[in-house]
Amino acid sequence: MSAARRPLVAGNWKMFKTGAEAVAYCEAFTPLIGTPAAEVALCPPFTALADTVRALEGSPVWVASQTVHDQVQGAHTGEVSAPMVLATGARGAIVGHSERRAAGESDAMVAARVRAALDHGLVVILCCGESLEQREAGQTESWLTGQIRAALGVVTREEQDRLVVAYEPIWAIGTGRTASPGQAQDACAHVRAVAAEFVDPEPLRVLYGGSVTPDNAAELFAQADVDGGLVGGASLDPAKFATVVAAAG
Ligand code: PGA
Repeated sequence: MSAARRPLVAGNWKMFKTGAEAVAYCEAFTPLIGTPAAEVALCPPFTALADTVRALEGSPVWVASQTVHDQVQGAHTGEVSAPMVLATGARGAIVGHSERRAAGESDAMVAARVRAALDHGLVVILCCGESLEQREAGQTESWLTGQIRAALGVVTREEQDRLVVAYEPIWAIGTGRTASPGQAQDACAHVRAVAAEFVDPEPLRVLYGGSVTPDNAAELFAQADVDGGLVGGASLDPAKFATVVAAAG
């Protein structure tokens, strides 16, 4: 964390929680975090976005979707556009999560989605990260370089205040095998260095994601180039996630 950048802790609920469950979560969560030092976001499934926004009214927590399509409307079964996300009251979108990339989202699709999200005024949480095979083959940095260049090539400096990058090593997501603080720091520093080709690297927030827990969050967030976290499993429980939020304070 750097004093110059306000940390962001975002909870990625993935395919968990109905609207009613989201409301119950928010009622428990907001009193637990009070007025947090970190910025906080929740990323529910599309079907719970509007309920989550309503339940968080008056709280500093903002809401983002877990993906967004690049077209405004059309014959794209199952997809949701940026104006539709905005109409729920959500302010942002995760783009390029590895679980979406594994289901077929290419670098070009990720770039198109980043562009569309920014065009419509959403905050983008752009995900990148290497597989275990790539890490073991010493390809982590070159892989991240490619992902960042592909996605940030469409971003201008004027809109970078609506861009956050999350480094999420695939081998650490949902596995309990968290990157060490040193590994997280090195990769986030590399992401920032490559991002400098396109945006001002100093104010850019780079998050770490992958098995962040109440036990390891403080050490991860203390790294100089780690500006908070994108949290999956540990964000599903309000008390656990509140502890992770406090670790970024
Ligand atoms: P995890 O997921 O915290 O459950 O590892 C993180 C993510 O996929 O964003």
